[in-house]
Amino acid sequence: MQKLKIHDKVFKPYLKEEAIMEIVNRLSTKLSKDYADKSPLFLVVLNGSFIFAADLLRKMTIECELSFVKLSSYSGTSSSGSIKQLIGLNEELVDRHLIIVEDIVDTGTTLEYLLQELQKRKAASVKVISLLFKPEAFKKSFTIDYAGLEIPNDFIVGYGLDYNGLGRNLKDIYVISED
Ligand code: IMP
Ligand code: MG
Repeated sequence: MQKLKIHDKVFKPYLKEEAIMEIVNRLSTKLSKDYADKSPLFLVVLNGSFIFAADLLRKMTIECELSFVKLSSYSGTSSSGSIKQLIGLNEELVDRHLIIVEDIVDTGTTLEYLLQELQKRKAASVKVISLLFKPEAFKKSFTIDYAGLEIPNDFIVGYGLDYNGLGRNLKDIYVISED
């Protein structure tokens, strides 16, 4: 694998497709065990999580449902810290076991907002799964119940994650290259 240029930045290989799938398999095995007989509802945070969610759901071995929500706090390569929009959340959530699916948790601003919104909906339980987690950037106090991999505070693209709209289609994950 080699470096690639997206807009004005250069990215280098970070996590190969096979390594990503190992993480996905581990997470789906754990969830299938933890949620057996609970028929969980996955709330997938668009846009970035769509590929992770598609792979994760296909590996689930228990009954489960899926819905999409959209909220965004990002512009460029650093979090703007403000929520721009929220769409979705139209279903009945009362007494449901909810699993929020994120591609990556950075500052935690996006998720904190979603968790606050969900508190009003009287769900039976609400947990968070994220493929990637940047502990150094995290500013909040809630728990990431299922974190696939902890990564340094560097900007990444690929496997659903974008840099100003581009890079979501990459099979592997790339990290920004300073040199
Ligand atoms: P937070 O609100 O700061 O936690 O940011 C969460 C959202 O920002 C994620 O769901 C991603 O869509 C996006 N994001 C955070 N870090 C990165 C990154 O390194 N590359 C691409 N998108 C990112
Ligand atoms: Mg996202």
